[in-house]
Amino acid sequence: MEKNFKRITVTSALPYANGPVHIGHLAGVYVPADIYVRYLRLKGRDVIFIGGSDEHGVPVTIRARKEGVTVQEVVDRYHYLIKDSFEKFGISFDIYSRTTSKTHHKLASDFFRKLYDEGKFVEQVTEQFYDEETNRFLTDRNIRGECPRCHNHEAYGDQCEKCGATLSPEELINPFNAETGHPLVKRATKHWYLPLDQYQPWLDKWILEEHKEWRPNVYGQCKSWLDGGLRPRAVTRDLDWGIPVPIEGAEGKVLYVWFDAPIGYISNTKELCEGNPEKYGNWETWWKDPETRLVHFIGKDNIVFHCIVFPSMLKAHGDYILPDNVPSNEFLNLEGNKISTSKNYAVWLNEYLVELPNRQDELRYVLTANAPETKDNDFTWADYQARCNNELVAVYGNFINRALQLTQKYYEGIVPPCGEVNDYDRETLSEFKNVKENLESLLENFKFREAQKEAMNLARIGNKYIADCEPWKVIKTDPERVKTIIYNSLQLTANLAIAFEPFLPFSSERLRKMIDMESFSWEQLGSTDLLPAGKQLPKPELLFTKIEDNVIAAQVKKLEDTIKANEAAEYKAAPIKDIIPFEDFEKMDIRVGLVKDCEKVKKSKKLLKFTLDDGSGEDRTILSGIAQWYEPERLIGKRVLFIANLAPRKMMGEESCGMILSAVNYNGDLSVTTTLDDVKGGSQVG
Ligand code: 2FM
Ligand code: ZN
Repeated sequence: MEKNFKRITVTSALPYANGPVHIGHLAGVYVPADIYVRYLRLKGRDVIFIGGSDEHGVPVTIRARKEGVTVQEVVDRYHYLIKDSFEKFGISFDIYSRTTSKTHHKLASDFFRKLYDEGKFVEQVTEQFYDEETNRFLTDRNIRGECPRCHNHEAYGDQCEKCGATLSPEELINPFNAETGHPLVKRATKHWYLPLDQYQPWLDKWILEEHKEWRPNVYGQCKSWLDGGLRPRAVTRDLDWGIPVPIEGAEGKVLYVWFDAPIGYISNTKELCEGNPEKYGNWETWWKDPETRLVHFIGKDNIVFHCIVFPSMLKAHGDYILPDNVPSNEFLNLEGNKISTSKNYAVWLNEYLVELPNRQDELRYVLTANAPETKDNDFTWADYQARCNNELVAVYGNFINRALQLTQKYYEGIVPPCGEVNDYDRETLSEFKNVKENLESLLENFKFREAQKEAMNLARIGNKYIADCEPWKVIKTDPERVKTIIYNSLQLTANLAIAFEPFLPFSSERLRKMIDMESFSWEQLGSTDLLPAGKQLPKPELLFTKIEDNVIAAQVKKLEDTIKANEAAEYKAAPIKDIIPFEDFEKMDIRVGLVKDCEKVKKSKKLLKFTLDDGSGEDRTILSGIAQWYEPERLIGKRVLFIANLAPRKMMGEESCGMILSAVNYNGDLSVTTTLDDVKGGSQVG
């Protein structure tokens, strides 16, 4: 049942501070959350938007060790980089803090201590893998070993990437430290578990019966976890980075990152309110008053933590409200491949800001138009270009430009009075009155993709209106009528600025200035008298500009280069062949040949025909299958290595006397071998 909440606490997943943020983050979590919050603010609702960096856990420690710097250095670097990217993309957090803050350490520590004191945890001693060289217990991802299924020697403690098996470290044969290769032993260690099994009956009812309205992907994932039966989950870890477990005898142990991170939402709210009590009031109201609606925006890999684990923690604690909805998106792929931070395969926001300056709204628009709301989706640069040029420029931008330019042309930028309204005007105006209601219902139900479409539809209506009314023709016959057309078009312009504000805040702000409106409110949407007759408008500028082909080509190339670099990094040389006696080697006569001529072999896509000076005084012909990699002219004058005593062979009707030596690169590309110095043709190689 829809409940009338007094205020709304909106959180968005705290990204790990182990790398910059990319378009997948933006599309999955931050743009939808920002659209929702901006809409609520325009409506005048009491809302806070909480963000921050997740600075604990294993990923940041791995990055630090790889780079040979402290973990603090890593989290500082990425926290500020991420914060800056979000700001520049207009993600309008009320606070963006971090889980290394003092406020958070205390709050998370007190949270754990309360549950501990009330006997809400179960203590358990288990055997875990331990590295005696570094004196550390290792987490699943830091353990490698032989896969029991496919015998890949490099399987991880949680998964074999070769055969796809889900594993636990115990299953690995000969486990070792993934970073150092050192073999591991088992050691007993004590941990504290949240007995999720005890919360199962409550969760079954709370989610499966009382939250049927959650998105099908969220509800479905919860159902499958619940149907599988919940088990106790450890909320502590043996690690030296994190929030120390606040009990005696727990030295060297920290809170599990998934225990402390969601508490970060509460800590960041506390920090926000204590920093500005006049504006935000008491932090507890945002987390403890049943009249507050709590909404978590997350990605699909976070569903279990936000729908099952965190609510169980909140329930165990007893003082807090529970999430009312958890709108989670699926994943965004990039040009058909998975986005990957570790493989550097992404469109990084900090790089986009430099390479496509002042085009934040364009990316916001495309990511929402193609948002992975119900299934995984693919971002392609071609689609980005098409949507920007065919929708933002050709529809929205075009309408605004026409309306404002005609106002300049006919009325020196002054809003003309509205004359008699005809049936066609009425029909158009009534269409854009409906937009408010439609948008509201879509936005309240987290259907951002459709909502943005609806806003764009308003621009289409505008374009059609101007095109149908043809003011440039009518001005010659009925100038009074044109005043009405332009007046209506300007009202539509103001409506568009409001309707698009949650989606495209930068363009709406520019448009707001172009039509000289002081501020927007959602209630104005649908009005037909937002710009009064007689109002002088400033000189307009283009709202959007075309994205050129070369810009797109550069982005596509960048991704292709990353794929190539990854393939090269992953390449493992073929095993060395069997040992041969020196005499066998001596049988081969390898020589230097000076390329006198080189040309394509007719009717062959593969072959190049070489004419070599091999020192004998007579030309030698060799055919080589490298046409795909070289223009023949490029090779003339070069010294190449060839086998001189290979039995001649006929190919495509030509006799080839020997073989040009080429290296086969990791990706199958061939590269002709040559000498570093100017060696005479016919010189022996050995
Ligand atoms: O998946 C992630 O990037 C996590 N750092 C999200 C944490 S969300 C919340 F619990 F803070
Ligand atoms: Zn395997």
